[in-house]
Amino acid sequence: MSARKSDIYNIIPMTINDLDDVYKLELASYSFPWTKEILRDCIMYNYDSFSVFFDNKLVGYVISKISYPETHILNLTVNESFRRKGIGKSLINIVINDAKIRKSEDIILEVRANNFEAQSLYHKLNFKTIGTRHGYYEADNGREDAYVLKLIL
Ligand SMILES: CC(C)(COP(=O)(O)OP(=O)(O)OC[C@H]1O[C@@H](n2cnc3c(N)ncnc32)[C@H](O)[C@@H]1OP(=O)(O)O)[C@@H](O)C(=O)NCCC(=O)NCCS
Repeated sequence: MSARKSDIYNIIPMTINDLDDVYKLELASYSFPWTKEILRDCIMYNYDSFSVFFDNKLVGYVISKISYPETHILNLTVNESFRRKGIGKSLINIVINDAKIRKSEDIILEVRANNFEAQSLYHKLNFKTIGTRHGYYEADNGREDAYVLKLIL
């Protein structure tokens, strides 16, 4: 049986048309979300960003900067109702593949010390913890550490 088009996850480069939906998902997903202006700048300055659609609804995105020698993943977000379906992993794999094609030597990212879900995903993809940035993030009761993770390509 073939899948209907509406049943398929479509992962496509993010465009300015996605901005409102990306911002809505950002607000729904984080206690300290990025501003709409930051998200707009990432699109306008051609960051390497991808949106995931299911049935014409935006259900996830990744924002990265692929460079030589190092790539940086800056944001990865999946709608709560669509988690544990492999979307986050697929988005990171797209960045990994593009970074390899563009001869990047490694990928680096920061993750909140208490964000076990994201850490579990990154470790599954072989990212290794290489350091801690103390007090890197805003938090409800002050600041929170970030772990720095790296994947050698
Ligand atoms: C982190 C996040 C992006 C993961 O997206 P996702 O689409 O649910 O992840 P996947 O389905 O691709 O998960 C792949 C693997 O990661 C690990 N993982 C993901 N979520 C997990 C969880 N809640 N608990 C334990 N392991 C988890 C598992 O090993 C999983 O494989 P499995 O489902 O076969 O066991 C998603 O939880 C999210 O958007 N969280 C809020 C925003 C956020 O924290 N972003 C990361 C900022 S650094």
